[in-house]
Amino acid sequence: MDFADVVKQRRSIRAYDTEKQVSDAQLKELFSLVALSPSSYNLQPWEFIVVREKENKRRLRACAHNQQHVEDASATIIVLASLDPSGKAEAIIADRMKNRTMDNTKREQLLAAIEYFKSNPGHAKIWAIKSTSLACMTLMLAAQNMGLATCPMEGIDAEAIKKEFNIPKTHEVVMLITLGYQKGPQPPRPMRFGYEDIVRFETF
Ligand SMILES: Cc1cc2nc3c(=O)[nH]c(=O)nc-3n(C[C@H](O)[C@H](O)[C@H](O)COP(=O)(O)O)c2cc1C
Repeated sequence: MDFADVVKQRRSIRAYDTEKQVSDAQLKELFSLVALSPSSYNLQPWEFIVVREKENKRRLRACAHNQQHVEDASATIIVLASLDPSGKAEAIIADRMKNRTMDNTKREQLLAAIEYFKSNPGHAKIWAIKSTSLACMTLMLAAQNMGLATCPMEGIDAEAIKKEFNIPKTHEVVMLITLGYQKGPQPPRPMRFGYEDIVRFETF
């Protein structure tokens, strides 16, 4: 599909065909694209829990102000951000050193940045959520291109989700994303501000 059409056709979909399921192969294809999202220092803080079992979706819906689409979608994805920036650093540094895209100076700079984030939890949280949110957008656009519908959701009780789904303190629940086959017509698009309203040049 033409990229502009993917962007234009992506909508937040709340009505799903409960008979049609997203396959394992589709999930694999989708997350292989999500993994290509950009992230600060390429540290890839995102992780995902795909919730597909009916009873688990029911439990998740109870943690999401009872929003029906959490249960009706084929899968609802719990999007997590790891708050430990060192989590994947070792493998990423080893790979860059091997490929010679990183020297010792750059390695030290990255380790210093990681230490900074570790000693500033508030900053680490913002850091992790920023990159993970970009991965969410990749997920929604890639799903659209595969003929699947999504809805991002932050109307949730993150603490309840953490408790119900055994999510450790090291991880933040960023949002839920419902995923499945749309039922019924496209909903009317809510208004958008345009070019003149949102773009300035050179300075505020
Ligand atoms: C961070 C975020 C949180 C949202 N939370 C919810 C939610 O809890 N429930 C819901 O049905 N839609 C939610 N939405 C969807 C918005 O309502 C929707 O994106 C907006 O109205 C624009 O419509 P569109 O996505 O169809 O263009 C959320 C969207 C974003 C980006």
